[in-house]
Amino acid sequence: MTLLLEQAERALGEKSQDLNPRWYPHYHLAARAGWMNDPNGLVWFDGWYHAFYQHHPYSVQWGPMHWGHARSRDLLHWEHLPVALAPEGPEDKDGCFSGSAVVNGDELALIYTGHKFHGDASSEDNLYQVQCLATSRDGVHFSRQGQVLDTPAGMHHFRDPKVWRQDGAWWMVVGARDGDIGQVRLYRSADLREWQDAGVLAVAGEGQGFMWECPDFFTLNDKQVLMFSPQGMSADGYASRNLYQSGCLVGHWLPGEPFAQQGAFQELDRGHDFYAPQSFLTPDGRRIVIGWLAMWESPMPEQQDGWAGMLSLPRELSLTADNRVQMRPAGEVEAMRQQWQGWGVNTLNNQQQLVMDHCESAEVLLQWDRTASSAEQYGIALGEGMRLYVDAQAQRLVLERHYPQHGLCGQRSVPLGDAGELVLRVFFDRSSVEVFVNDGEACLSSRIYPEQRQLKVFAWSGSATLTDSGSWSLK
Ligand code: FRU
Repeated sequence: MTLLLEQAERALGEKSQDLNPRWYPHYHLAARAGWMNDPNGLVWFDGWYHAFYQHHPYSVQWGPMHWGHARSRDLLHWEHLPVALAPEGPEDKDGCFSGSAVVNGDELALIYTGHKFHGDASSEDNLYQVQCLATSRDGVHFSRQGQVLDTPAGMHHFRDPKVWRQDGAWWMVVGARDGDIGQVRLYRSADLREWQDAGVLAVAGEGQGFMWECPDFFTLNDKQVLMFSPQGMSADGYASRNLYQSGCLVGHWLPGEPFAQQGAFQELDRGHDFYAPQSFLTPDGRRIVIGWLAMWESPMPEQQDGWAGMLSLPRELSLTADNRVQMRPAGEVEAMRQQWQGWGVNTLNNQQQLVMDHCESAEVLLQWDRTASSAEQYGIALGEGMRLYVDAQAQRLVLERHYPQHGLCGQRSVPLGDAGELVLRVFFDRSSVEVFVNDGEACLSSRIYPEQRQLKVFAWSGSATLTDSGSWSLK
């Protein structure tokens, strides 16, 4: 282990002792202490799922990026491993930025961005981002192979390589900024070390962002999906409300051909906190995605507690016949369920009802009969700060948080379709809520900071009918 990695381990060992656990997740991955952002290098290798992540072990703020590391047999129980990468080479001296992992024979290969300034770090003119390689036999200790791809001439922002294998070659997409226009560049290699330019795969249209971060490119249902995280997309009514977005373009692509897009950009998650998602394949061929459950420049109250940032639940992706990308909790998640507690609630009439005394680590199921419901608002409320409800006047499902003490107040929402039934699967952890609407139709994920955890169902100005409701505590 290098000096910097040892130093990081020592700092984490100390800092994790004084962590305040009140908002620390029960079943999501978070750093042992310090700062976490994007998931990196998600991969199945040698019997384990590996998750790396952008990590600053020394403080709860973003800083010179390391790669944190954990592994799991089931995507739920994570074992922390030593920090995998620290910014210690000339090629990554100011940070080991985001990237991906592939299995190459009996080696695990990490391909990541070396972030470095040549000279004064206050000027972006001095910024260079290059792609680097590190390899491992045991999946725990990595040996740095240095830079494998330089910054294209005239560019500064060039990061977040995602690599995959197809038709006997390695392929890589990299996010980039050309002036004020985001783009995704494509490269090809025979050995992960020498990369050939294969052109620009996609470019931002009007209002689609100045920089495209964290691209990922994969096949779903015989179509190709370009998933990425654009910076600088303008808000549009209820859509694209967060500082940065993450979402997908669907189309057709074959090696050597252009990417023929079909349809518009689709936001993947409509909550307050979901960014920089990355996908990987399970051994049985499912495409799973995990995102960062936080948002740049949003208050993070858990910083008071010695940590910051967490990852989302693993979600399985699918594509509908009309090209809609859908997310559902990965099947593994059901293994956490303990005893089912039916709530026995039927019709609520301008009233609220307590259904759980303490909702901290739970999956909640709600099946509303919208046709039979007349209330203007109906849904669930956690403590004083979070509500998830149908707004019948706006015809929307609203996720609202109200934590004025933390500067986190506001709503996100999705339109309700014509269906008379509304089925919600809602996952609560200590400081997060993830809502899956009508089995893939939409998803909303937000960070929450409850002080009090009573869960109530309510219906105001009219009645609302639940055809099924209850919860599993999760372990
Ligand atoms: C996305 C991102 C990436 C970058 C990393 C730095 O959240 O900005 O583009 O590699 O975070 O930590």
